[in-house]
Amino acid sequence: MNQAGENSGAPGADLKRASDALSNAGHIVCFSGAGISAESGIATYRDPLTGIWAQHDPRTLETASTFRKNPQLVWGWYLWRRQQVVNAQPNAAHLAVSQLAATGRKVSVITQNVDDLHERVGSVGVLHLHGSLSTSKCFACHRLGTLPEHQMPIPSEGALIEPPRCGRCSGKLRPNVVWYGEDLPSGVWKSAIALVKSCDVLISVGTSGIVTPAADIPWLALSSGATVIHVNTEDVSTAEPNELMLIGKATEVLPKLFALVPRAEQPQ
Ligand code: APR
Repeated sequence: MNQAGENSGAPGADLKRASDALSNAGHIVCFSGAGISAESGIATYRDPLTGIWAQHDPRTLETASTFRKNPQLVWGWYLWRRQQVVNAQPNAAHLAVSQLAATGRKVSVITQNVDDLHERVGSVGVLHLHGSLSTSKCFACHRLGTLPEHQMPIPSEGALIEPPRCGRCSGKLRPNVVWYGEDLPSGVWKSAIALVKSCDVLISVGTSGIVTPAADIPWLALSSGATVIHVNTEDVSTAEPNELMLIGKATEVLPKLFALVPRAEQPQ
């Protein structure tokens, strides 16, 4: 492990190994978690919340049973999160990921995040394992729709807000995100696995690696022979031989790392 590749007993060793692996790669997967959006001002899941939401645990708010019991509380929580996203700007880490493809390599983005910050700086084909805050789903008939904008901005943080109703069956609308205890969208998961199994390098950025099955992705990459580069403010590596740990903020580490990756040589 390494402080952005510079503060360990082998200065810069992991940063150099990481840039070498990327330079030799044809296909790179960027796998992101809440930490990549933290510096855009969007709260992560395991860092302590402040204000009114400090009294609640996302793990209990983000479940079907809590929505059944207290839909106004859960809808208010998601409108608050949605408002954070709308007010946020993509940061240097999102930008660095989107610009990596300009080096002539295939770059795929798989995210656990329900924000759209990767897309807002031009990443295309982003696979959202845990859904998206931009769309809604009927709790009763599962019809997908857009997220109504008329309830934003929310009246106050922690406000109880009545969910809008489905135009087809009048069921309550919920955000189109994956709640605890729910399956990932199977098509998205299958596509993600195919990308992970075929990549040369997987960069896992800003994820605690706790919530499965998404947390299995670095393992899948390693077992398929890829190099895994973790970028995180904490050490999240498991010290496998093909695993590299760059400790630092995503906005600092990713631009620094990608600046070391030359354009890919074109086939003759
Ligand atoms: N740069 C890099 N890493 C960071 C930064 C930063 N600026 N800030 C925080 N981190 C790291 C933290 O050290 C932590 O490991 O980001 C990680 C955030 O972890 P979580 O909050 O657990 O987020 P994530 O791993 O994406 O959560 C997975 O859990 O609640 C569910 O569905 C939700 O998608 C989410 C899933």
